[in-house]
Amino acid sequence: MSPIVRSATEPVEPTLGVGRISKSESEQADFVVVANRLPVQHSVSQGNDEWRPSPGGLVSALTAVLQNHDGLWIGWLGGSEHGEPPMDYEGIRLRAVAISPEEYADFYLGFSNATLWPLYHDAIRAPTFHRHWWHTYQDINMRYASAAAESVAEGGTVWIHDYQLQLVPNMLRTLRPDVRIGFFLHIPFPPSELFMQLPWRKEILTGLLGADLIGFQVPHMASNFSRIARRLLGATGTDSVLTYAGRTIRIGAFPITVDTAQITSLAADPKIRERAREIRRDLGNPEVVLLGVDRLDYTKGIQQRIRAINELYADGTLSGGTHVMVQVAVPSRESDAHYDLERHNLEQVVSEMNGDHGLVGSPVIHYLHQNLPFEELLALYLAADVMLVTPFRDGMNLVAKEYVACRTELTGKLVLSEFAGAASELRGAFMVNPHDLDGIKEAVCLALKAGPKEAKARMSRMRRKTMRRDVFDWAQSFLAALQQGNASRPSAGAESPDPST
Ligand code: G6P
Repeated sequence: MSPIVRSATEPVEPTLGVGRISKSESEQADFVVVANRLPVQHSVSQGNDEWRPSPGGLVSALTAVLQNHDGLWIGWLGGSEHGEPPMDYEGIRLRAVAISPEEYADFYLGFSNATLWPLYHDAIRAPTFHRHWWHTYQDINMRYASAAAESVAEGGTVWIHDYQLQLVPNMLRTLRPDVRIGFFLHIPFPPSELFMQLPWRKEILTGLLGADLIGFQVPHMASNFSRIARRLLGATGTDSVLTYAGRTIRIGAFPITVDTAQITSLAADPKIRERAREIRRDLGNPEVVLLGVDRLDYTKGIQQRIRAINELYADGTLSGGTHVMVQVAVPSRESDAHYDLERHNLEQVVSEMNGDHGLVGSPVIHYLHQNLPFEELLALYLAADVMLVTPFRDGMNLVAKEYVACRTELTGKLVLSEFAGAASELRGAFMVNPHDLDGIKEAVCLALKAGPKEAKARMSRMRRKTMRRDVFDWAQSFLAALQQGNASRPSAGAESPDPST
């Protein structure tokens, strides 16, 4: 990739429905990121409206790559009613894709989050199939593809992200056969038994196969995809290289990770360390702090985990005052009925637990339905003795990696679902089957009993793996594979899951 932004020889007409075009309509970028959301979000601070970077390692990682390549990011503002975003953010040009309220209902809440999301997460909730949702998904994907086609310079590179945009690779290839196209799926790719339910399964596969490189979180998701593409579309090849429609498509595993340097340095910040001590004091200086931090999503297994902890209080393994749990549930997709119900049921379980086992001034679970600043999350990670990450299915789960990255003193224990992508790497965790309530209880008991020596050995093992590469390496490895056509090897980060660990 060259770091040059070229001028198109002819002005580019904006496509109907695509939002304001940044800076100059005649400028095209050598490197374009296409994701459902833009990397900025609106917030109000001390009465002032501001646009801030969206939280998360993905934004930091891609920001750095885009800055180095004078790149451009195409995405949606996320239903913000606060007007136009800045035209650029820290040197990256932004291009907003407009989505109307009706399209939001059909594309975002509908096909993306009520069809694909549950289907790709083990059908934990029954996926819903509606033809009009599918039609809107096609229209919106075409809108992103058109925006990318207009924005990328000749011979440039486009990196498309996630399940909301699976048709974009092939649409873009049709519009711009000259560009190099990468696609990364952040969530699991399901086994064929589930994927086959999708009425538009061939169209989704064809959409993805428009890319030159398709990245997944772990190797078995990559093979799920390759196998189904061979079976349904007659693609030929192996789990890592397919031939389809006369083209070669590479498939690989690129486990995403966190900004380890940023987390390590924040974890050493005296203010954050003091805040961690303050949190423990505010919790009543218990012997053990248990912590869960999740987006409030039915895939995360939050209720099941709290039920298990509740039973441990009921049977006397845990006791109020000595053991305290904190559960942060970050608000998410609140206009969806499944999420609304999940919140309702979760809050019921939380209040039952406090009702049954709490004391005046000393609840056994502290529940925060809030979007906390990253520094506050880090203070919570530092304050926690046992971190519980028990999703029913998760592409990776970066909370688990953040916890490990900030435990620089090799203390702290992680209870981790074997169905999180992170389980392939974090083999020092206490592994659980999140559907097995007794299994969760056993793992928590084992974690509580483990002495400092065992805890240190486990945390060292997890940190060796986690600190070896960061989110910048992740982005670089994907882009290097995309440029060099070298995605056939699974990434060095992945190990086979070993639930018995
Ligand atoms: C997951 C998905 C992302 C998505 C995020 C938040 O991590 O992989 O694509 O952006 O959840 O969900 P939301 O619907 O708020 O964008």
